[in-house]
Amino acid sequence: MCSVVGYVGNEYSRKFVLEGLSRLEYRGYDSAGFACIDPDNNRLMYAKSEGKLQRLVSLLEKEPIDGFAGIGHTRWSTHGASSEQNAHPHFDCEKLISVVHNGIIENHTELRHQLEKTGHTFHSETDTEIIAHLFESSLSVRKELPEAIVHLVQQLQGAYAFISLLNAHPDTMVLVRKRSPLCIGLGDGQMFVASDMLAFAGKTRNVIFMPDESFALVCKDSVELYRFDGTPIAVSVQEVDVTWDMYEKQGHDHYMLKEIYEQKTAIHDTVDFLHSVKDRIWDDMGMSAKQICALDSINLVGCGTSWHAGYIGKFFFETIAMLPTQLHLASEFRYLPFFPVKNNMFLAISQSGETADTLEAIRMVNEFQIPTVALTNVSSSTMVRESEGFVLTQAGREIAVASTKAFSTQVTALYWMAHRIACEKKIINTSQLESAQHDLLVAAEVLENTIENYKLSIIKDLAPRYARYKKMIFLGRHNSYPFALESALKLKEIAYILATAYPAGELKHGPLALIDADTPTIIFSHQDPLIYQKLVGNVQEVKARGGHVIAFAFEGQKELCDLADTVFEIPRVKSMLGPLAMTGLMQFFFYAIAKELDRPIDKPRNLAKSVTVE
Ligand code: G6P
Repeated sequence: MCSVVGYVGNEYSRKFVLEGLSRLEYRGYDSAGFACIDPDNNRLMYAKSEGKLQRLVSLLEKEPIDGFAGIGHTRWSTHGASSEQNAHPHFDCEKLISVVHNGIIENHTELRHQLEKTGHTFHSETDTEIIAHLFESSLSVRKELPEAIVHLVQQLQGAYAFISLLNAHPDTMVLVRKRSPLCIGLGDGQMFVASDMLAFAGKTRNVIFMPDESFALVCKDSVELYRFDGTPIAVSVQEVDVTWDMYEKQGHDHYMLKEIYEQKTAIHDTVDFLHSVKDRIWDDMGMSAKQICALDSINLVGCGTSWHAGYIGKFFFETIAMLPTQLHLASEFRYLPFFPVKNNMFLAISQSGETADTLEAIRMVNEFQIPTVALTNVSSSTMVRESEGFVLTQAGREIAVASTKAFSTQVTALYWMAHRIACEKKIINTSQLESAQHDLLVAAEVLENTIENYKLSIIKDLAPRYARYKKMIFLGRHNSYPFALESALKLKEIAYILATAYPAGELKHGPLALIDADTPTIIFSHQDPLIYQKLVGNVQEVKARGGHVIAFAFEGQKELCDLADTVFEIPRVKSMLGPLAMTGLMQFFFYAIAKELDRPIDKPRNLAKSVTVE
């Protein structure tokens, strides 16, 4: 999504704002902009450009505006094309108020009409520009900033986080937050502001995470925080421990590659962490052991890759913890009837803990008497704050838009949770829980080793060969089907190759019509003998129609290997963990194809890492 960054202090702001934006560019890269207060005459100056941040950086080298208060933006377009005109910051009529914004103003059409009737002229198609004009009109009736902001937010509907710099208040940044994240880093004689604290990691450890529906007036030495009704809120500062060097590419060509290779460690860290909290896990989850034992069913919800992890998790909860599990796509769940049942728990899965649809699903369920638990990678996220409890993965920060280590650690945590619940319910004993932890570590080992085994042949031979295809079909059965979904998503998002995933048994109900020599079928095997035999049958159906097959098979699955045109053989692991073991190789293969095609792997076109708008 869009990112907003701001600075006010004793130093010039541009350097920090641009560096902060570059760290957050994963959130959107359609256009970028910067505004600051001219120290000579206290007037607003700005620069903006279409495209990636680098274009703004080049522009600012030619026109080096700077000031002690500055704000910046990278955009992921929602309202209006990716153009310079639609790039933030946006302004009021007199260009005395600038705004950078992340989120969506839902009633923007209605507000625009009202403002136009009263003489305001708009210069962009964005919903953001409405904020600047509305602020102008609020300030004309309420002279004091807090009163004007209260008046302003009363009229705005939607989810938003914005920063505003005003000519009339050259030393103050105005911050407003509703349902989109915004945080303030407290420095010495300087304040940093951003959608994500990564922007100022290493510059300060003292952070204020703005509460929902609050606004702040930030000067270099002070922060005033208010509720939307104008009542002051006591400022609560948290100490966080993050540095930026932890997030450099460290010699890899792309963050995605670095993150693929971090998976073994991330799985180890997640297992170690979960093991260390095993006795207090129900407290963390905001539940009691009694509630866990009484569970009759579980609901899982998520978006994108997190939803795929949840889909794999459904097999764990049903098979290991014997809990009927319903899986929901957050974007659909919110608009469907919800039938709360007793003895249920609602587990929201989200790497970032900020995804708008998943967050709204949590808010919806919070209205009922059902425990909500966030399974996330970010302990300071909104979901952790708004759910009744949480479980944390230990993937470390994931920067590449395409999720890798977040996925494998989610699968890890779900497998562990299914065992931990089964243990509490006395379906398994503690030593079986310990074995499950060991099985996860074995799968992590296989995940990494298989990349090494096939790395050279992928780079030299397979990636160039398969990069030529325009479309591919993905098949799986049982829990290798959701893995096929995740694999197809990876290929689509980073290589821009059309990929469609099916449960292999559905082949004859339609997709078989697509089989030809130009459409490879990628099949993900299973270690269960019955499921494996069915998959072999499906591969025979493909081969009989002249199809080309790439098989991810487990060692010893000779029939499948003999049928396939290209085979990746994976050492056997605990049957349920087959997808986890195949994860690294699958990601590396598609990474290499995308690289062959010279795609912008870490920032695929049109996408953003953290989708904080619906
Ligand atoms: C975006 C990302 C995906 C991610 C999804 C859900 O679409 O590009 O990689 O899976 O959001 O994000 P979350 O942070 O909720 O897991």
